[in-house]
This record gives sequence, structure tokens and C-alpha cells, in this order.
Amino acid sequence: MKKYLIVGALAMLASVPVMKAKNLTHVLSSDKTSLVVTTNGGGTAYYQYFGPKIDNSDISGFFGVRSNYTGHTLPQFGLGSGGERALMVRMPDGSISVDLAMEDLKLTSDDKGELLMLTFNDRVYPLKVRQFFRHYADTDVFSTWTEITNTGKKGNIGLLEYASACVPLTRGNNYLTQFQGGWASETRMSESPVPDGQTVIANKAGLRNTFGSNPAFMISLDGTPRENSGEVFGGNLLWSGNFKTRIDANPYSLTVISGINSEASELTLKPGQSLTTPEFAMVFSTEGKGGVSRAFHKWARKYGMAHGDRQHDILLNSWEGVYFGVNQEVMEQMMTDIANLGGELFVMDDGWFGDKYPRDNDHTSLGDWMVAKKKLPEGVEGLVKAAKERGVKFGIWIEPEMVNTKSELYEKHPEWVLSDPKRPLIQGRGGTQAVLDLCNPKVQDFVFSITDNLLTENPEIAYIKWDCNADIMNYASPYLPKEEQSEIYVRYHQGLVKVLERIRAKYPDVAIQLCASGGGRVNYGLLPYFDEVWVSDNTDAYQRVFIQWGDSHFYPAIAQASHVSASPNHQTGRVLPIKYRFDVAMSGRLGMEIQPKNMKPEELEFAKHAIAAYKEIRPVVQFGDQYRLLSPYENPVAALMYADESKNNAAVFAYRLDYLHGQPVPMLRLDGVDENKNYRIKDLTPQNESRPCYLDGKVVSGRILRNAGINIGQVLNGPNTSIALSLTAE
Ligand code: GLA
Repeated sequence: MKKYLIVGALAMLASVPVMKAKNLTHVLSSDKTSLVVTTNGGGTAYYQYFGPKIDNSDISGFFGVRSNYTGHTLPQFGLGSGGERALMVRMPDGSISVDLAMEDLKLTSDDKGELLMLTFNDRVYPLKVRQFFRHYADTDVFSTWTEITNTGKKGNIGLLEYASACVPLTRGNNYLTQFQGGWASETRMSESPVPDGQTVIANKAGLRNTFGSNPAFMISLDGTPRENSGEVFGGNLLWSGNFKTRIDANPYSLTVISGINSEASELTLKPGQSLTTPEFAMVFSTEGKGGVSRAFHKWARKYGMAHGDRQHDILLNSWEGVYFGVNQEVMEQMMTDIANLGGELFVMDDGWFGDKYPRDNDHTSLGDWMVAKKKLPEGVEGLVKAAKERGVKFGIWIEPEMVNTKSELYEKHPEWVLSDPKRPLIQGRGGTQAVLDLCNPKVQDFVFSITDNLLTENPEIAYIKWDCNADIMNYASPYLPKEEQSEIYVRYHQGLVKVLERIRAKYPDVAIQLCASGGGRVNYGLLPYFDEVWVSDNTDAYQRVFIQWGDSHFYPAIAQASHVSASPNHQTGRVLPIKYRFDVAMSGRLGMEIQPKNMKPEELEFAKHAIAAYKEIRPVVQFGDQYRLLSPYENPVAALMYADESKNNAAVFAYRLDYLHGQPVPMLRLDGVDENKNYRIKDLTPQNESRPCYLDGKVVSGRILRNAGINIGQVLNGPNTSIALSLTAE
């Protein structure tokens, strides 16, 4: 299929780079969507269209009927009328106006897909801007970003505003779906009409950029957002630092401008220097929000995360089981227990390190990544060996970007900390936590060496949990010169990515979890280097239904670490049956975070069966298409399902959230099944092995499952009830 067309005089040269482009139309297409950009002889580029797929033959009739959609692909500040701008710079002589003329256009492709590159130069000043549009092959995800270069020989250019994307959408009955939250209450979804004026989604925390708002959002173009129908645009800035998305609306137009948050982040380009802005990924769906989510999930597994095509292990993490109380004996006991339950990996969390200052609480030791000998006399090596003997893999927690002021590292290198020498150091967790200055290449080397040493000394470590429990609290870098102090928010993340690239180049196979006090970094800026996110420190299965629901809008189940923990829950005090806790965790990457020694025998028995059942559905949960069926925001039950590509295998989960006697429960319609197949239903986690729910063993047609629905009210017939089912086509 030809995905790129040029209409006009040069149509014959469709596959050749086009120089000095004139009045041309450029189309990038996926199977479902097209993105259309036009360029003209005056050197300008316009967005014409991002919507359902169009063809060569459609182009001639296109412009006369779509003229209200047009917008400049990169609005610049300084000339013409006002309005929101994507690019604003300070030229060497102090002028802050930009006037770009297009120099050339190229279509290339690489291992990720097709890439359209527009090159602009300012008509007066030495400023070159490249604007990229990518279509990711075999997905419905497109992206756009820029590269800004100071091409002068002398004089600096200041970047005041440098958004990655400016996308015009159709103004109509638009709704915005966005995600907010904080520690233990991440990713709360809110939906509201898009008002005229400006709506801003932004973060200024410095490090944990998804506490507050998530950079991912959807805009529905035709009324209240629905799951499987309606036109929905989904956008997500692939960046781990401060971001800002402006949604600018008036009665005639709707424009999304998204990029790094430029507040307190003026950047300087010296002669010859460039800035590449982060990618803004986008999807247009005519299958509602579900269509956007499924497109992002598929893209994530292929391009947006590490090992999205590799099955993730079922693990036990030590944190909520023993907190800082790690020692050889307890770790071995936990390894034995998870091995007996059928798990595959044991992860030792916080509390294992610190020699001069052993890590017994959160006041000390970050930075001193040597084992606490008193607790673990046989070292990490002894733990790796013990895990191997029990037939499970071994993983370990680190928080490499941080230091406690009570540590040997801080005593040796106080200058490695983000801090202003003229001001008192503001300290975070434990009253002593500070952030290392990743703008400094020496600090980057040190942070790299933490993982490098662990993995060189213990090549059998299979998993690392990479934590980050602070934000930038002291906005000052002892490393950067005074005129570059305004660059910390950006340079930190560039430094972090350099470290992660080195780690992945040397250790491509190790699994790494991205944690930031729970879900403080649920973003695609970092996920390419990580296998999954720790969704939340809140492990209460009831609240997890909502948090995982929110995350599922952009992040696939394989990347959502979901752990069964103790009841009463440590964060909320809620009491929930073991079945409910498993049924919720099984809808993501299943794990446990509990002291198995304290579980009742019947709970352990249940856990063993549930883990075996998860193994049956793991491929469909971790690699399948997700359908959200009943929203927890609208119903007394929440339900979701996964189906593989063939629609021969599916898994269905439903959770009672609110229970009043006589309260109606909607029929559950299974959107992910094939109407022309018959499915055998299995209750995966019966409370009592000999008494599965009434649906177990029934063979039902896809038409019934999808259109008429099944009565789950009969099973979710009391507080804290839940079901996990598998469907197999016969
Ligand atoms: C953070 C993480 C937790 C745990 C603790 C350890 O809060 O989110 O999962 O690792 O740190 O101190």
C-alpha cells in the first residue's frame, strides 16, 4: 500500500525527496487514519487534516469543503495577529520575532516507519527549524516534534517557547478526558466539555511528572465520549519532565499545543547547538476512547516500552510484607513461599543497603549502594544464589537519582546535589532526601555505575525496581554555569535519558520497573527504557479498579504492575476477600506484595490456584486488545476484558463497587468477542473450587455475549464480590 502521495505537478516523483516544495499535498496514512499537510511556494506549511483515512482520489475534492480546518503547522511568535504560539525565541540581537520560510521537504523511512521532515529557516536570522511527522508502521499512532538549531557563527539564541506539536482539531461538541491525581490516588479520570478560551494541562514538579496531571489526554469531537463509537483524538507527550498542553478554543477553532513546559526553562542555543523536542504521539479514532486506547497499547508494546513482546513474570515484592526489615532469613522464607505458590520472581525492595549508615528507615543511606552486611552477610550474591536454589529469579530495588544527606555519598560529594550554596537545602522524604544533579556528567557516570556494578557483579539479577521519591525541591545546579541555571528542568531529563540509554545498551535484557512513589512517572518519556510502571503505592484493590482504569486509557496491561497485598489494606484500611484482591491484580501484570507467612492457609491455597489460572490467561491479558465494558465512574460494577487478535481467547473481569440490596446491575456486553464464534466460559477463580459461579462451563454464542449480554448481577450479588472468567472459542 502506498502511504504517501503528492498531488500536483510533481506527482510522478512521489517517492523522491522534494526540494523547494510548492503548493503540494503530503499525506501520511495508517490503515485507518490520514494526516495531511500542505506546503506552498511562500514557504509555509499547513495542517489540513487528521482523521479517517483518505485516498489519492479524494484529494481533488478535499480542499473546497475542509477550508476551516487549516492551521500553520508551527505558529511562531512575533509577526501577524496574536494567538497561541508553538515557537518563540530571542535572537542574538534581542529580537523576539520569528519568521520561518520552508526550505525543503523530505520523506524518509526507518525501522519505525515513515517520516516526513520539513525544514524551515528564518528569513533574517540564523535559525533553522526542522519539523517531523511520523507514522509508526503497523499502528495507528502518528507523532510530531521539532529540532531547533542556531546556525549562526556567533551569538546565542534563547528558546522561550518550544512546543513539540500544534494540532488543529475540529471545533464542535468537544469533551476533554484528562487524568489527575497524587500519591496513592493516581490517574483519576475527569471529563468535561471544552470551553471557549484556554484549558491547560501541565506539570511543574520537576521529576514525578504524573503526580498532578498526566500528559495523556483525549478530546472527543462529537459529543460525550463513548467507549466504542464516536470520533476521539488522543494525545500524549513522550517526556518525563515538566510539560504543558494548551487547548485553545473559540467558536471557530480548536487547537492543541503541547510540549515541554517552558516556565522557568529558558534554554540557550550557542552557535551550532540544537534542541530536539520530545515527540507528541497522537491517534484519531472513530471507535471512541477504546479505539484510542487499543492503538496506544499496541504501539506501546511495539515501540513505546521495553520488552512489550515478552511475557512478564509473576512476582513477590518484599515491601508491604516486611518494609525495611530485610535480612537473609526473611528473604529466603519469602522466596520459598513465592516459589511454592507458583510465582517466578522475588524482588527485594528497600532496606538492603548502607554500610556506615545501614538503611533501617527512610532517613539514611540513599547513595551508598553497598549491601548492609549485618542484615545480609552473604551479600547480593547470597540472595541470587538462594533464589536460584528455589527456582525463582531475583530482583532488587534501587533509587539511583537520590541521596540522603546522612550517607557516605553526601559526605564525599555534597556538590553532586541540586542545591543553591547560598540557601538552606530543602530536604524531602525522611527529612534528609535530596536529588542528585543529573545535569553533571560525573553524576551521570555515578548513577550509571549503580546499575552497572550490581549487574556486573551479579549478572543473574533479572529485575530492577528503579524508584524516585522526590521532586526538584532546590532549583539550582552546582554544575551548570550561571547563565544556564534556567535549563535544569530540561537538562536533568536529558541527563537521565543518557544514563538509561547506556544501561539499555549494556543490559538489554534485564527487566526494569519504573516507580516514583507509586505512579509518579507513568509516562512514555521513560517507558522505552522500562518494562512496566508501579501503578500506585495504593494497593487497595477497590481503589486500584479506578487507578488502573485511568491508566488503561493510554498504558497497556502488560505495563501495569498490580500486586495482591494484605487485608486490611495498609493504605486505606479496607478489608477485601483474597478473591477480590486477586481478580483485580490479575487484570494487569500480576504480583504479590505481602508477607505470605501471615496469610491464612485457605488464602495461600487460593493464591496458588489464582496464580495457575493467571498463567492460562497471561498471554491474552499482556498482549491482547483491551475493551473497557462498564465504567466504575458510572456503574455499581466495573468490568473490562481482553481478547487476542484471533478472538479465540478472552479474559473478562468484573468488580462490585457499590452494593445496595436491589440495586440494578447492567447486563455485561462483551465488546471484544467475535459474533460468529461460540465460547466456553470458565470461572478462573472460584471462591470454592467445587462451586464455581453459574456461568462456568456454559457455551454461548458471540452474538449473545456481545449484543444481549450476560447477567453478572447474579454473581456480583453482595459487597466486595468479583469475577474473573476466561472465554475460549470452540
Ligand atoms: C516508594 C515506592 C514503594 C517502595 C518504597 C520503598 O514509596 O513507591 O513501592 O519501594 O518507596 O522505600
